[in-house]
Amino acid sequence: MLNHQKKNIYDLIEAHYLLTILKHLYKKGFFKNPDRPKRIAQYFGNRWLFDLVRKQTDLIGRVNATHCYVSGDYHTYLNSGFLIDKFIDGFNVLEPGGELPLLSVNAERFGQAFEKASAYQNNTIQLSLLKQLGARHLLDLGCGKGKLLYEFCNASANHEGTGIDQNDHLLKAARQQFKSASLKKRITFYKGDVSRVSTYLTKEQIKSVDVIYGASILNEFCEQEETLKRFLIHLRSLFKGKYLIVLDYYGVLNTAKANQRSLQPAYIHDIMQLLSGQGVPFRNRQQWFSIYKQAGCTPVFHFEPEAGKGNNWFIHVVKLGA
Ligand SMILES: C[S@@+](CC[C@H](N)C(=O)[O-])C[C@H]1O[C@@H](n2cnc3c(N)ncnc32)[C@H](O)[C@@H]1O
Repeated sequence: MLNHQKKNIYDLIEAHYLLTILKHLYKKGFFKNPDRPKRIAQYFGNRWLFDLVRKQTDLIGRVNATHCYVSGDYHTYLNSGFLIDKFIDGFNVLEPGGELPLLSVNAERFGQAFEKASAYQNNTIQLSLLKQLGARHLLDLGCGKGKLLYEFCNASANHEGTGIDQNDHLLKAARQQFKSASLKKRITFYKGDVSRVSTYLTKEQIKSVDVIYGASILNEFCEQEETLKRFLIHLRSLFKGKYLIVLDYYGVLNTAKANQRSLQPAYIHDIMQLLSGQGVPFRNRQQWFSIYKQAGCTPVFHFEPEAGKGNNWFIHVVKLGA
């Protein structure tokens, strides 16, 4: 399984078994304290298993006859545990042989993965954009643990935040962050579906919001262009003339580059989107901009630091109106 050439059925079964081993290592705490050598006998039990993992994966190296090490690539939670927590444990495999989708979100496990990952989340660019846009009241769609809302409200006593998310677990963690009375007064969380945003916010709140933010949420509306367009039209009708900041990624599944190793994070994300019925995000800026325009919105800014590699992520700023 060392490249993306077509896999035969034995490759697939091998991948299944290797994943079983990976999950076993993770649950045994193999990725904790990654700088420290690990006792082979403690994690692998016997040499056969150790040799198999060393030969067929890039996860480990050998220190000496009794100890091994975790490869540097897997030292951070984002590059090891998070991927298992999100892509594997974050989903339930639905009844084999049933209808599509094949996976459904396991809200608690998926939420836990994102809660843990939020410690590594860097919002410098988002906060700088919010400053440039003169934001006072930020609405975060699919706010997760609400880290951006927290940082935004913490930056000034004039800032207010509203977050909507459907995940109870993440909302609970989000509320716990806002400990001081001053912060609590300026933040509101709603549990619900972002596509029905108008049912949670009062008319005054809708009027008061001046910037809307959505990180990894618009990709959920990408199954069909029409679905995303309808959502954008809904937002435009509520927040006309205000700015929407979109953080998302360009899908690669239907591109020639899909099977390049440099794009593997985006490619795996696409497969997850596909199997869980969320649709694969549009593949380039032109397609996204075209949909914004068809929805009567005006893209005004883009930032693509990972273009053609990694997660292939981007930020767009879109004016909700002409
Ligand atoms: C990939 S996570 C991103 C979380 C957060 N925005 C961040 O950047 O860390 C997507 C979030 O959107 C939420 N979500 C997905 N679809 C939603 C929907 N239709 N309505 C409300 N929340 C939704 C999920 O519960 C999850 O917290």
